[in-house]
Amino acid sequence: MSAFNDLQKKRRSIYALGDQVKQTPEELFGMVNEAIKDAPTAFNSQSVRAVTLTGDAHKKLWDMVLDTLRKVVKNPDVFETTEQKVNGSFKSGFGTVLYFTDMDVVHGLEEQFPSYKDNFYDWSEEAIGIALYSVWLTLTEADLGASIQHYNPLIDQAVAEAFDIPSNWKLRGEMPFGTIEAPAGSKDYMPDDERFKLFTK
Ligand SMILES: Cc1cc2nc3c(=O)[nH]c(=O)nc-3n(C[C@H](O)[C@H](O)[C@H](O)COP(=O)(O)O)c2cc1C
Repeated sequence: MSAFNDLQKKRRSIYALGDQVKQTPEELFGMVNEAIKDAPTAFNSQSVRAVTLTGDAHKKLWDMVLDTLRKVVKNPDVFETTEQKVNGSFKSGFGTVLYFTDMDVVHGLEEQFPSYKDNFYDWSEEAIGIALYSVWLTLTEADLGASIQHYNPLIDQAVAEAFDIPSNWKLRGEMPFGTIEAPAGSKDYMPDDERFKLFTK
């Protein structure tokens, strides 16, 4: 096992987040940005955008999620469970990274390379996945926990208004992060022979 494999094993979805992190918001912002800058994108199009929220901005995001959900979740018991999850697992953290795809980049590539037209949105999604995994590993290496959430598209408008997001940035995920207050549970793995094949001839 290499140090990289160990880091991959260490990265988990952490749902018990605290806010007493050692790093400053600026340090974390730099770590997030460097991780994304070194992550590959189709045609080096750099279609991934990210907004890092800490402090009141982070809390505001999760309050907005609850305000939005309150309007759509009619069952009070279901809402209460969601509220506990949002407050206890996400808002309790130190910050959140919002991941966006710049749709102007995607459409520009579609026009520039018509023969690949049908691929560019899928490739931008792959770029989001690679970027967020890179950030997740970076946070893990710094002994911080994170998870990935998808309250988009429900919260898109509120997020755009609150954080002055350009209209061509499409929200693709929300990554709350912070100190690890409880470890992740055990994780199941499918049998390798159902997933992987090796051919040598
Ligand atoms: C594309 C993708 C979407 C996911 N969406 C969510 C989500 O909306 N909410 C959530 O709590 N976890 C989400 N997850 C986390 C997975 O549930 C989690 O990674 C998986 O169960 C394995 O657990 P681990 O992250 O602890 O290794 C997502 C993961 C991926 C890769």
